[in-house]
Amino acid sequence: MNSITAEKDFPSAKNFVYLNAANVSLMYSGAKNGIQDWFEDVALNGSNNFDDNAEQNVFKNLHLAAARLINTSPDNIAAGSSATELLGSLAWAVLPTKNQNVVSTKIVFPSTVYPWQRVANSTGCEIRLAKEKNNFVDVDDIIDLIDENTKVVCISHVEFSNGQTFDLDLLSEAAHEYDALFVVDATQSAGAIPIDVNKSPIDALVAGAYKWLCGPFGAAFMYVAPHLLDQLEPGLVGFRSHKNMWDLDASRIEYPQGAEKFEFSTMAFGCAIGLTQSIDYLNTIGIKNIFQYNKGLSNILLEGLRSRNAVITSPLEKKYSSSIITAHFDGVDTEEIIKNLKISQVFVSNRAGSIRFSPHLYNTDVDIQATLVELDKIIQIVS
Ligand SMILES: Cc1ncc(COP(=O)(O)O)c(C=O)c1O
Repeated sequence: MNSITAEKDFPSAKNFVYLNAANVSLMYSGAKNGIQDWFEDVALNGSNNFDDNAEQNVFKNLHLAAARLINTSPDNIAAGSSATELLGSLAWAVLPTKNQNVVSTKIVFPSTVYPWQRVANSTGCEIRLAKEKNNFVDVDDIIDLIDENTKVVCISHVEFSNGQTFDLDLLSEAAHEYDALFVVDATQSAGAIPIDVNKSPIDALVAGAYKWLCGPFGAAFMYVAPHLLDQLEPGLVGFRSHKNMWDLDASRIEYPQGAEKFEFSTMAFGCAIGLTQSIDYLNTIGIKNIFQYNKGLSNILLEGLRSRNAVITSPLEKKYSSSIITAHFDGVDTEEIIKNLKISQVFVSNRAGSIRFSPHLYNTDVDIQATLVELDKIIQIVS
């Protein structure tokens, strides 16, 4: 397979086999440089260069980059420090009430549902989690939970533990049939799977930077559909929430028009600058190309795992699969395998008792073959 990245983009990728983007991705070098430059400037010059005007406009390029990534207008994008922070502010803004319910899945990443659970603890709304079997959720079991009292369907586009992917068109339609909001946590998909918030109508979407977006910890973005923006009052507010942030008049808040109303405070701004660089980089390569490339890698891995009699625990049906592959070997301790892979400089995670392999654009087929060779050696030793 021809590489779709240059060595300078991810200079450390050749030093080891890194199959762990679902945990923390390698960072795009342009993002790393942007972050370092910003922190160095503020450390050495305070606000001489990063002045009021720069601070006010610091997210503009992130709005543009994220908007291009998911095919929307920059006005519908808010920047924040983490996916959870943005989702928390959204959950309090939506504020599902006592007779309403929020639908998600039992295997969802906790941060996708905890913000709603926290609101439920105050308002008494019901949290409904679709059941799982062998760490797999049938999409019909999500749809069955949606009814006329559903305020929100909030799912993770790709489940963190096994890569199960949900059809956004299908769930969007199911939620909207009952006038529920369709909210997507794209932390495990943005940057790796094409998302078009117009094609699959999504009401809100959050994504953190440090996984498939190849950015840093400390930055994230949220999309809020224009039809919602006027109705929602952010759950988290601060001086930046006012439409002219430098007015600094504590006696009133008038929110800006767009999704910017969800930006409320200072943050490690250099991280947002880094995220902008990484999204611009991924947009230039093209998410469709990245998706196909990653699929190519995971198909080679799957074939190799199957021929070694691994038990594949990620969904194999095309409509549910992503480039995350999870597997274990009967009678062999998963933790032991992962420990030994690490000694051989192959980095993966343990999720739900399986080895989770999450290759991304900086990996090559050589990485995958090397991983299979190491697995052969390890299984011989530890079984
Ligand atoms: C689906 C999903 N959402 C959210 C998070 C956490 O995001 P953040 O650290 O940006 O709050 C994770 C982390 O693993 C995740 O997998």
